[in-house]
Amino acid sequence: MKALVWHGKSDIRCESVRDPILENSRDAIIRVTACAICGSDLHIFDGMIPEMHRGDVLGHETMGEVMEVGKNAGDLKVGDRVVVPFTIACGECFFCMKGFYSGCERTNPDHAKAEQLWGHSPAGLFGYSHLLGGYAGGQAEYLRVPYADVGPIKVPDQLTDEQALFLSDIFPTGYMAAEFCNIQPGQTIAIWGCGPVGQMAIRSAFLLGAERVLAVDTIPERLALARDAGAQTIDFKTENVYERIQDLTGGRGADACIDAVGTEPDTWSGIDAVVDRIKTATFLGTDRPHVLRQAIMCCRNFGTVSIVGVYGGLLDKIPMGSAINRGLTFRMGQTPVQHYLPMLMDRIVKGDIDPSFVITHRATLEDGPELYKTFRDKRDGCIKVVMKP
Ligand SMILES: NC(=O)c1ccc[n+]([C@@H]2O[C@H](COP(=O)([O-])OP(=O)(O)OC[C@H]3O[C@@H](n4cnc5c(N)ncnc54)[C@H](O)[C@@H]3O)[C@@H](O)[C@H]2O)c1
Ligand SMILES: [Zn+2]
Ligand SMILES: [Zn+2]
Repeated sequence: MKALVWHGKSDIRCESVRDPILENSRDAIIRVTACAICGSDLHIFDGMIPEMHRGDVLGHETMGEVMEVGKNAGDLKVGDRVVVPFTIACGECFFCMKGFYSGCERTNPDHAKAEQLWGHSPAGLFGYSHLLGGYAGGQAEYLRVPYADVGPIKVPDQLTDEQALFLSDIFPTGYMAAEFCNIQPGQTIAIWGCGPVGQMAIRSAFLLGAERVLAVDTIPERLALARDAGAQTIDFKTENVYERIQDLTGGRGADACIDAVGTEPDTWSGIDAVVDRIKTATFLGTDRPHVLRQAIMCCRNFGTVSIVGVYGGLLDKIPMGSAINRGLTFRMGQTPVQHYLPMLMDRIVKGDIDPSFVITHRATLEDGPELYKTFRDKRDGCIKVVMKP
């Protein structure tokens, strides 16, 4: 089959690889009908994620048609149309039983490596390195889905692939980011990053009752899409973000701040961002947490900082003094997608939201390597790429 394969930093190729086969009785094989490139894939593309091996198949936002099922793959049947969560979860362990599927303690065969880095291992993820299971990803014609009785969910006929696809990751992620803020009537939520995840967070914040959303980015079409949703926008390159948020909140700060950018902010976001860039380039640091610092400083006393932008290692110069003296709450995580799927599927069916609004580019797998660059460099108005193998 054809798949997008990692060969090194900035080197992704569309190649023939071996077709997946059932390896376990709880597996299913799906024929991919739509898959997407995520901001998290850009961290791999930019060489920020350790333990990638040449030949790894990428991709974790995938849906398709069930082709084969193991005898313990639950009630999935050949021909079912399903969307697949990016988090692989057993459904039975301590964490899965509590709904913390992205903390599943059984699905990362590489857990010892993750424990060395993070103390404990999270769940395995599709197409996301040999730190997180080494599972082949879904930017491919076919995908093996382990624990298929827990992950994939059937898509009702009335939804198109494009409406359902983002249930695999960015819609639940944006929703979780907003849910972490415990939004009360009248509140102002500030959101950094108007990429696909930020866009989902903006709309979710309104769905959850935010009075006002302040959206920070610099890319004109992304800011415009945020305004379409009703957000007020702040351009971090031409405005002082902290002062704008102070002005807009009567000097108090935002009730909650969402970091939907993570470890790769624009290098020109601020002096600290330039220093971080130099430190990571010279192996003196692992991450570039400019946005997290700013989100903390812009949050009101006893507010919440919600982090869904991904970080990898040890973060420098985090203003913990500000956080502890002012009683901030931190919420963060890789999304336990399975926990949100049924409820968010319902919201799409009811018409509360149609997540396909972020799609700007539709392509084939062969176009994938070029579109990784287009998406990373934010060229050609690119906000979200969907590929149909
Ligand atoms: N927690 C999870 O489960 C989860 C799931 C999916 C994605 N993510 C992460 O979410 C983040 C965003 O993903 P995406 O797909 O939207 O990526 P993206 O790269 O398209 O979006 C990032 C946006 O941040 C903007 N930005 C850069 N510097 C900024 C600054 N200083 N202030 C404000 N905005 C700034 C960029 O212009 C861009 O629009 C990534 O870190 C990704 O890894 C996390
Ligand atoms: Zn993702
Ligand atoms: Zn589990």
